[in-house]
Amino acid sequence: MDYDTLSATLDSLCHGETDTVALMATIACELHHAHPLSDWTGFYRVTGPEMLKIGPYQGGHGCLAIPFSRGVCGAAARTGQVQIVPDVDLFPGHIACASSTRSELVLPVWNGAGKLLGVLDLDSNTEAAFTQTDADALAAIMSRLFKDAA
Ligand code: SME
Repeated sequence: MDYDTLSATLDSLCHGETDTVALMATIACELHHAHPLSDWTGFYRVTGPEMLKIGPYQGGHGCLAIPFSRGVCGAAARTGQVQIVPDVDLFPGHIACASSTRSELVLPVWNGAGKLLGVLDLDSNTEAAFTQTDADALAAIMSRLFKDAA
């Protein structure tokens, strides 16, 4: 996975953009097509107290609402920690939107003021598809692109 190219492409496409949904849609599209193992790529947005709702994504349909108390996405939103899940069957409370999903990566997404905007979720039909390298590269891209988003 070539994160240097993805990063440069996104910097150029998103230059000057601060609208959260416009950024999420563009990132979901570019990341989904660039990552060889991601079968579902998208965002859940914080829409209320302890509540995530589906945002822009690529792949099959996702669950519409995920409380902070549930699933891998909820764990990322609740704890503020990146969740790398090599085997979803071993993650207590995993929400199976697609029965084909074997592994996941979920990152919290904040703006520059430290407000939690949502989470970025990558789901793969391959076991252990995502690594710390994915997490680190994506965290750097997210913090740069959402810096001035509301
Ligand atoms: N599997 C996720 C839910 C989101 S979807 O799979 C698109 C979770 O447990 O948070």
